[in-house]
Amino acid sequence: MSTNPRSTIPFSRDALDQVLKRRFFFAPAFEIYGGVSGLYDYGPPGCAFQANIVDTWRKHFILEEDMLEVDTTMLTPYEVLKTSGHVDKFADWMCKDLKTGEIFRADHIVEEVLEARLKGDKEARGISVAPVEESDDKKKRKKKVKEIKAIKLDDKEVAEYENILAQIDGFSGPQLGELITKYNITNPATGGVLEPPVEFNLMFETAIGPSGQLRGYLRPETAQGQFLNFSKLLEFNNEKMPFASASIGKSFRNEISPRAGLLRVREFLMAEIEHFVDPNDKSHPKFEAFKDLKLRFLPKGVQESGSTELIEESIGDAVASGMVDNETLGYFLARIYLFLTKIGVDANRLRFRQHMSNEMAHYAADCWDAELHTSFGWIECIGCADRSAYDLSVHSARTNEKLIVRQPLAEPLIVEKFEIEIAKKKFGPKFRKDAGAVEKWLLARTQCELEDLAKELKDEGKITFEVSGVEGKIELDTEFVKIEKVTRTEHIREFTPNVIEPSFGIGRIIYCIFEHQFWARPEDEARAVLSLPPLVAPTKVLLVPLSSNSELQPVVKQVSAALKKELIPFKVDDSSASIGKRYARNDELGTPFGITIDFESVKDLSITLRERDSTKQVRGSIEDVISAIKGITYENKSWTEGTSKLSPFETQAAE
Ligand code: ATP
Ligand code: GLY
Repeated sequence: MSTNPRSTIPFSRDALDQVLKRRFFFAPAFEIYGGVSGLYDYGPPGCAFQANIVDTWRKHFILEEDMLEVDTTMLTPYEVLKTSGHVDKFADWMCKDLKTGEIFRADHIVEEVLEARLKGDKEARGISVAPVEESDDKKKRKKKVKEIKAIKLDDKEVAEYENILAQIDGFSGPQLGELITKYNITNPATGGVLEPPVEFNLMFETAIGPSGQLRGYLRPETAQGQFLNFSKLLEFNNEKMPFASASIGKSFRNEISPRAGLLRVREFLMAEIEHFVDPNDKSHPKFEAFKDLKLRFLPKGVQESGSTELIEESIGDAVASGMVDNETLGYFLARIYLFLTKIGVDANRLRFRQHMSNEMAHYAADCWDAELHTSFGWIECIGCADRSAYDLSVHSARTNEKLIVRQPLAEPLIVEKFEIEIAKKKFGPKFRKDAGAVEKWLLARTQCELEDLAKELKDEGKITFEVSGVEGKIELDTEFVKIEKVTRTEHIREFTPNVIEPSFGIGRIIYCIFEHQFWARPEDEARAVLSLPPLVAPTKVLLVPLSSNSELQPVVKQVSAALKKELIPFKVDDSSASIGKRYARNDELGTPFGITIDFESVKDLSITLRERDSTKQVRGSIEDVISAIKGITYENKSWTEGTSKLSPFETQAAE
């Protein structure tokens, strides 16, 4: 298991879990009722950490790009998600152990079993492997041990397993079924036979209103709310393209078997960007500034060849070679890298993995995931997809609302096109209350559809169609409509924008940062530290009076008032615990700074500043210490830069 570079002690997930629990970063929801899988509550430090990450996200993306933030509803009518494709396609494959009734996500069980067999085989050959990470979940541990002991593989099988694992995200349900049969994959705990995989839709269904007539779902992504507001947002943006909308809010997925704590939950905070761009021009005006940034890529071709070797190159080269499809997609990959490393992700444990062709979501044309390495393996934390014109087109076709951009052309264009002429006066008497809907349907037809309708009108003397919400088939002859090819000079170009979508799961990112920044002091394994960057740490300062003597209180009050004035989150710890214990508690909470107030402080108003990771101490006036904290936390200054006005200080109390 990875070891944090600050320590020689190997990472322990158990130790991290205990700290997160003890300090109430988060905990199972409804715990005193036994809990529900995949649902968690955040405690005070978890809440503050999440709020700081969201705040940084807003500044890094929304403010930097002038994005238009919206807050749309989570309850979504059936029609919207039927049209978007989620009702039919937003599903994972599951298989059941017929005897025990236990349910597994098909790709996860294949992955888990093959990985365990490979590990067991390596051990049998005497090749050193990382120990199986122990977790609270004893059952799972037992399963793995059983698997590992049971299997010996030949070279061909090892190669096959590695090849399958490199492509594990790309298999369809039937293909997973074939793998389960071919490799005799059973319930690892019982050896029970698994049923062939079946599809399971991940959305939570509900009824909106008391009649039960209006079917709805809890949204599985925030994106749809942004697409449906496209025309209003374009108008708000003075019709200027490209532009991006953004939304932060809860999404819901009825995951088949949520394990792995915050990594797979059923209700989670998403932060999503929909960047609307001209399909003919996906360049990005700020790409140049980021083109030399080097990223680590795992392109689809490499995975399809059965390898997981990373390619490290600049984002400029990756776009130039076509590996990353366009500048806008590349720009966001670079910005995602900078965001993640700013909030505490270890750059050496971050990679960008491209989706394989058969892995892509139903709406996507290209997709790169930002994956973070953890004790659970590589975890997708951000999906960055080119959704093309899919969503706007399907919603437009379904609602007959034009979701398009109209732009003046530099040069007028002579075009041949089909046009429809409607005898409006005759529509009222014929269709009464439905006249508007029928007209709207006709006017929303694409050029291809008009071409077909023109042919139908010519050949049959009438057109026949149905309009949603209008009863029965509608027939119109040339008395009501004319559809003809005409030549026009156009001054306006109309197009449906494409969408580049970076989609962040905040909880997954939070958990990965915990793993990346957790370590134990080499001199004492029991002293754990969470090295959260000051910018996002839940509390920035721990204020510790060295003694409970009331003489120190006025200085405590003065420093507290000064910290409050600067809006620096802090906590006073005037408990009777030793100063070492008080700092140790806060190291676990990720608090980056400590201020000690002693009897010297009463005399000259000087205070000591302690840095969490190095435990270095410096001393100076209240004003200079607070200015150092501000500089390091909010102005990106290093410890050396930030504390340049402070003097080194030898510790008075053993830590
Ligand atoms: P996975 O394959 O792991 O289920 P996904 O491909 O379904 O993930 P996306 O649909 O791309 O994930 O969702 C976008 C982002 O939302 C993910 O990158 C992830 O950070 C987050 N996310 C998705 N599902 C969950 C979940 N069940 N729990 C926590 N976060 C999630
Ligand atoms: N909006 C991206 C996703 O849900 O995957």
